[in-house]
Amino acid sequence: MEEGKRTKDMILELKDIRKAYGKGDSYVEVLRGISLGVEKGEFCVLLGPSGSGKSTLLNIIGGIDTADSGEILIDGDRMSAMKEKQLTRYRRQHLGYIFQMYNLIPNLTVRENIEVGAWLSRDPLDVEEILHTLGLYDHRDKLPNQLSGGQQQRTSIGRAIVKNPDILLCDEPTGALDYNTSKEILQLIERISLQYRTTIVMVTHNEAIGAMADTIIRLRDGKIRDCIHNAARVPAEDLEW
Ligand SMILES: Nc1ncnc2c1ncn2[C@@H]1O[C@H](COP(=O)(O)OP(=O)(O)O)[C@@H](O)[C@H]1O
Ligand SMILES: [Mg+2]
Repeated sequence: MEEGKRTKDMILELKDIRKAYGKGDSYVEVLRGISLGVEKGEFCVLLGPSGSGKSTLLNIIGGIDTADSGEILIDGDRMSAMKEKQLTRYRRQHLGYIFQMYNLIPNLTVRENIEVGAWLSRDPLDVEEILHTLGLYDHRDKLPNQLSGGQQQRTSIGRAIVKNPDILLCDEPTGALDYNTSKEILQLIERISLQYRTTIVMVTHNEAIGAMADTIIRLRDGKIRDCIHNAARVPAEDLEW
């Protein structure tokens, strides 16, 4: 990912994205002109302190929130030109989302939560295979409240990747997990990147996690402060913090 760079393999391009919240005294400019591009298959980590606008930016990319100005291109298509139906289709079929707080459906089992993702896709991966890959097969009939945090996050990863999404958006996916479980989850995300060549944009405030990505972008006060290409990705297993 490079600012301003443009090739035919660019899956995601952001041009001068701006976003503010509130009015009068509570007015705050959260994103103050963000431009970047992500290539197909690239693993990109967005680093920034709490409140720097990471979630806002990810939600705008995910079509959950809208920018005040600027342009987003998905595979060359302008998001602002998409009709509601087209945008819904993009979200359902091409995007996977992993949140800090799992957001599983409480009265559905592990398998059923993952199947929800499969139903949304025209070209889903095999649910059984995902259960095995994520080490959830033995837990497939449990409800979310019968699972540890790590198992719940694995289920939410399953729900996101079973769609075989073009882009996987991860918002602090290990934010609620202990050290060892965090590393397990990061290893799974790394595996998805290597195995399926899924384009990944992952947001975190943890500097150490950046080393596992192809590109590390630093966000501060609503602007990109730094964008570096990481020639040698560090295996998630070897990350330490
Ligand atoms: N819906 C909203 N309404 C008002 N302010 C918001 C809203 N969402 C985020 N903000 C503000 O925008 C800033 C950036 O938030 P956020 O994108 O969540 O940061 P990060 O994910 O980096 O911690 C914060 O100051 C936050 O209070
Ligand atoms: Mg956030």
